[in-house]
Amino acid sequence: MNGARVCATTEVRDGSALRFDVAGTAVCVARVGDEWFAIGDVCSHADFSLADGEVWADDFEIECPKHGALFSLRTGEPQTLPATIAVPVFKIAILGEDVMVEI
Ligand code: FES
Repeated sequence: MNGARVCATTEVRDGSALRFDVAGTAVCVARVGDEWFAIGDVCSHADFSLADGEVWADDFEIECPKHGALFSLRTGEPQTLPATIAVPVFKIAILGEDVMVEI
């Protein structure tokens, strides 16, 4: 993986998300237990940050804070309206204590 380090594993709490800039792309990094996800941070419905939304750990989804669309952390696909278009999914890996994302 030719990813960029975005943070340490300790920086993202279980069941939460943070926004990072990776080579000019806004990326939402989310954590559910030992599973890590990296999706496009900009909601596909309007220009709002998904990382500001709530992570629904049981369903591996994140809720857009503006109008409440749910997105799958695994696929980026919207699970509810008003979003209808998927956000991109990026490769993410844990190397030691570093969180790496590949755009
Ligand atoms: S901006 Fe995300 S659902 Fe409207």
